[in-house]
Amino acid sequence: MTARPFGYSGGELVCDGVPLAALAAQFGTPLYVYSANQIAERAQMFQREFADRGHLVCYAVKANSAIGILKLLAKQGCGFDIVSGGELERVIRAAGKKKAEVCGRVVFSGVGKQPAEIDLALREGILQFNVESEEELDLLAERAAKLKIKARFALRVNPDVFAETHPYISTGLSEHKFGINIKLARKVYARAKGNKWLEASGVSVHIGSQIRSVEPFESALARVIALIKQLRKDGHHIRYADAGGGLGIDYGVGNFEPAKQVAKYAEALKRALGPLDITLLLEPGRFIVAQAGALVSEVLFTKKNGAKTFVIADAAMNDLIRPALYHAHHEIVPVKQTKAKGKKVDVVGPVCESGDFFARDRELAPVKRGDLIALLDAGAYGMSLASNYNTRTRPAEVLIENGKSRLIRRRETMKDLFAPELG
Ligand code: LLP
Repeated sequence: MTARPFGYSGGELVCDGVPLAALAAQFGTPLYVYSANQIAERAQMFQREFADRGHLVCYAVKANSAIGILKLLAKQGCGFDIVSGGELERVIRAAGKKKAEVCGRVVFSGVGKQPAEIDLALREGILQFNVESEEELDLLAERAAKLKIKARFALRVNPDVFAETHPYISTGLSEHKFGINIKLARKVYARAKGNKWLEASGVSVHIGSQIRSVEPFESALARVIALIKQLRKDGHHIRYADAGGGLGIDYGVGNFEPAKQVAKYAEALKRALGPLDITLLLEPGRFIVAQAGALVSEVLFTKKNGAKTFVIADAAMNDLIRPALYHAHHEIVPVKQTKAKGKKVDVVGPVCESGDFFARDRELAPVKRGDLIALLDAGAYGMSLASNYNTRTRPAEVLIENGKSRLIRRRETMKDLFAPELG
């Protein structure tokens, strides 16, 4: 089984059987295309592997916050990990009539929660606030008392575990801004015990993103479990161990087997849990949506400057910032299959910065003006990080469900862009 829903059929790149060229003709480019099947399948991989333990998969909304995708995951029984009031509003819209049930499966992470966001989350009855500082806990207590709604919370502890990934997305070391030093946590829980508006319901951890080896997850969770045992002895009724997200995918052409990777991850986490009776919360984002998505773009021009050949695409860093921001690798393939030998090129966008590149010195099949290319593994942190830089409208998004395409977000218009401006 290939790890991607994209492949060639009849000489054309398709997503679950639907030709990308036809979608580009219908909806224009740049265009994000996602496979609903793969997203559901990936969520099920986690649910299956943890079926023998109390667990809840809280999909990390920031990875891809399209309401169409949130709806799909809510239907799969997922909860959600949010980091803002805005993300909660998205979850509420996706939940529809099931708002109360779905909000009961929401955890709220992030180092800088604001009073209005906390109030919204309290009123909607979310499962748990993952609190990252003592001052935040004080604010939570204050808001809970004001609204007369008890707040369930977990401290997000910083386990001081190193995980190999890009420095911008590593979070589990004491030098990072995230969490509360695990050694101080017990004191903070003890202090909260005296407050009738606070209820310590869990302990949470998140060590970073795009982590390919499972060992750091095991070490971090083992530290959390040791703390939970201590807290229970201290008289706290801890029901949830939140292991965070971060499981990485293979952005290359390797022989990646996602189901095996989730199985390995589950084994490692279960080793850390041991026989403890507790509900495990998981917050995967990237692993669920990254490989389900591609960004389809048209080649505007090709040109040579000195020794270099540039392929100038109509997508740019404002549509997919990962290569510019993290030097991330995304496979790029032509939408029309070709046997012609590849040439080394730089694939760039129209934005006026040298950092606006998708690939440098990359071997790419020969392409010309008007050809389509696809940037793979773009389903996570693609559209959710897109901006209007250079006054560019953001791409449209299409979801492929059972061989049918559905526009889940129309392309922005200039009118959308100018709406908030008062001149
Ligand atoms: N939980 C928390 C508290 C997080 O901060 C994150 C991601 C996740 C879960 C989900 O992590 P995932 O399973 O997706 O790795 N923009 C970067 C990634 C930033 C990740 C931020 N936090 C990128 O494009 O690589």
